[in-house]
Amino acid sequence: MEISEQLKNRFKNSKTILALTGAGISAESGVPTFRGKEGLWKQYRAEELATPQAFQKNPKLVWEWYIWRMELISTKSPNPAHFALAELEKNRSDFNLITQNVDGLHKKSGSGKIIEIHGNIFRNRCINCNRTYDSDPSKLKNSTDCPNCKSLVRPDVLWFGESYDTELLNRAVTLAERSEIVFVIGSSGAVGIPVELARIAKENGAFVIEINIDPSGYSRYADLFLQGKAGEILPELIPYFV
Ligand code: OAD
Repeated sequence: MEISEQLKNRFKNSKTILALTGAGISAESGVPTFRGKEGLWKQYRAEELATPQAFQKNPKLVWEWYIWRMELISTKSPNPAHFALAELEKNRSDFNLITQNVDGLHKKSGSGKIIEIHGNIFRNRCINCNRTYDSDPSKLKNSTDCPNCKSLVRPDVLWFGESYDTELLNRAVTLAERSEIVFVIGSSGAVGIPVELARIAKENGAFVIEINIDPSGYSRYADLFLQGKAGEILPELIPYFV
C-alpha cells in the first residue's frame, strides 16, 4: 500500500475519526452480503422478508428467515478487519463507529463505541409495548409472543420503508459533520441515508477513505479508494493511525 508522507502525517495528526461499515466487512467472516453475486437479495425477495407489510402478512415466514440468519451468524467470528477497528478505538480517544450491520461482530471483536443504525439481529422488540429482549433462536422457534403483553415480537432491525431512529441518526450526522477522517468500508451505497453521511462528512472537510473490493455509491466522495478486501487492507492501514 503506497501512502505518501503527507498523508501519513495527516493520518497521525487527525483528531476525530469515524468508520462507517457495511456488510462487506463481515464477508470474510462468512456472513452473506445483501448485494452482489452471492448476496441475500439475489436469493430472497426483500419485500417478502424485510418490510413491516411482510411481517404483518406472514410473521412466521419472516421469523423463519431471521432465525436462519441468526443461527448462521452465531457460528461466525470477527475477522482481521473488525479487529483492526477495535484496535483503532483502543488507541484513539475520538474514534467512533457507525455500522449498518446487524450481526454484532464489531462488538464481538472488542469495539465498544458502536452505533448500529440498522439495529441488531440478536435483539427483538414487541410491536405493541416496544419492550426489547435478547433473541434466543431456540425460544423464538417455540414462541414469538411478548412475555410482557403477549403481542408479537419482531426482530429489532430496520426494515425497508421504515424511518431511522431519530436519536441514532442525529448522533450519526453529528459524527459525520465533525470527523476529520472517515472510513467507508464494505458498503454498496444502495441505501441512501448512509451515503448521505459520507456526503455530509465530505462537505464538512473530512478526508474520506473507502475500502471496497469494487467501486460503490460512495466512491464519488472518496479522497482515497483502496480496492481490495477489508480484512487485508485495514490491518495494513490502521498502524498509520496509531
Ligand atoms: P451490500 O450487500 O449492499 O454491499 C456489500 C458491499 O461490500 C459491496 O459494495 C461489496 O463490493 C463490498 N464487499 C464485499 N466483500 C468485501 C470485502 N471482503 N472487503 C470489502 N468490501 C467488500 O451491503 P450494505 O451496503 O451493508 O439494510 O447494505 C446496506 C443495507 O442494505 C443493509 O444494512 C441492509 C440491506 O438491505 C437493511 O436491512 C435495512
